[in-house]
Amino acid sequence: FLQFLGVSGVLATLPGCSTTSPFSSSSKLPGLAPSLEDKLLTAEGLNYKILIRYGDAINKTEKFGFNNDFIAFHPLKDDHGILWVNHEYVSPTFDARTKANIDREKTEVGGSLLEVKKVNGQWSVVNNSPYNRRLDANTKIPFAAGAKVKGATVATGTMGNCAGGKTPWGTFLTCEENYDMFWGERYRDGKTTESWLGWEKFYPMPPEHYGWVVEIEPLTGKAKKHTSMGRFAHECAAVTKAKNGKIVAYTGDDHADEHFYKFISDSDNSLDKGKLYVASLEKGQWLSLDIDDQPILKKTFKNQTEVLIYARDAAKLVGATPLDRPEDIEFDPLTGDVLVALTNNKKRNNFYGSVLKIMEDNNDPGSLTFKHDIFLGGGSKHGFACPDNMVFDPKGNLWFTTDMSGDVIDKGPYKGYGNNGLFVFLRSGPHQGKVIRVASAPIDAEFTGPCFSPDYKTLFLSVQHPGEYSESAQKLTSHWPDGGMPKPAVVMLEGELLDKIVNGNL
Ligand code: FEO
Ligand code: CA
Ligand code: CA
Ligand code: CA
Repeated sequence: FLQFLGVSGVLATLPGCSTTSPFSSSSKLPGLAPSLEDKLLTAEGLNYKILIRYGDAINKTEKFGFNNDFIAFHPLKDDHGILWVNHEYVSPTFDARTKANIDREKTEVGGSLLEVKKVNGQWSVVNNSPYNRRLDANTKIPFAAGAKVKGATVATGTMGNCAGGKTPWGTFLTCEENYDMFWGERYRDGKTTESWLGWEKFYPMPPEHYGWVVEIEPLTGKAKKHTSMGRFAHECAAVTKAKNGKIVAYTGDDHADEHFYKFISDSDNSLDKGKLYVASLEKGQWLSLDIDDQPILKKTFKNQTEVLIYARDAAKLVGATPLDRPEDIEFDPLTGDVLVALTNNKKRNNFYGSVLKIMEDNNDPGSLTFKHDIFLGGGSKHGFACPDNMVFDPKGNLWFTTDMSGDVIDKGPYKGYGNNGLFVFLRSGPHQGKVIRVASAPIDAEFTGPCFSPDYKTLFLSVQHPGEYSESAQKLTSHWPDGGMPKPAVVMLEGELLDKIVNGNL
């Protein structure tokens, strides 16, 4: 079990300590060059250890799931908390589409709650903690506020859990992104599509029960699905407060030419009820998706629940701006602006993506008008492509991951960009305005879910889908982390470089 506690974790790079270390002066820009190695590489002054990997037991009956993604930390006291980790999806690369395999896969998606403690300077998962539990494709989850979706008040399971968020009242949000890869889709006209994973052939489920934002209590695992924020490929839900105290949640639809949404709650402590809006960048306006505000919606949909189920259709009817795949959303601690990673849009030959900045009028998340600009562009100037998950440190440095899909890495427009990485956009000091690569992912993998510990000494980070393209390559493309079958895992980045950046001393 020592392995599970991370004791065997790999120390990749020792912090620089000689007098000639670049860290003895603040002039040299640190960072890694692009790499195609099947390794988790870290810049000098940064090291990593594994916290938990796919298949590790979290208690007597449950195991850590596959393809870990979003990570969030709920503090209990100093150096002690509950981690939520999403398990976004499983991969047919590794298993035939049989009922037995799908039964197992259904237990490997959703998310994990893990009690974590830092003892002698080292975080580990508390073995057999009563807080350790799984939510998966079999968990019964009611719809919030008594909502009825296709006649049901309770859904079975959560899956496609990509990124998420946290609420001011201490709950986690996990977002159901590509639900159609499990169940297929059913459109408003009744037409259906087949899924990639083929689950619906054994377990036909109403696709309308998925594609929602799910709220989870850290201590009990109690969950509810919110219809209030609409149904689409939710990447995440970033929660803040309007100037009048009402809760506001921003959420994007990660599909080419889909939209960016904002929900304004009726209350200051719940996401159950409120109004959903969608962005028109051209008009600088949040357009209401309330059936009573929009005659075109009244004409098209039976009721507000139908508007929310088919939010994509509703957004197009009111004139929402098509975007280049909105992924993660964060609030700039220096300006209050809302940042949205637009990862790419191959339909429009946007290969490198950018980070969009939404500046709400009066700096008020409750505002219905805004301005926008590009915050940071992908491409050769900064040496990254396809920004995805983001997290700010207290000095306003933006830590972000990239997601060039495994089949395009080092090909075509991505030649020379190396494997996916973790980057930092520096906001102050002699390197202000520069982007550095601080970690490089193993083959086919992306980093996801960057999440700081409360003391900002540790960055928890998911390594997702190493070796995902093994099937098309007809051999294992990655052996990370143990030299055998590739396994997704959560790692912890620490070291002098991290300390310098988060303290603004680089
Ligand atoms: Fe699951 Fe949009 O990344
Ligand atoms: Ca992902
Ligand atoms: Ca993502
Ligand atoms: Ca992505």
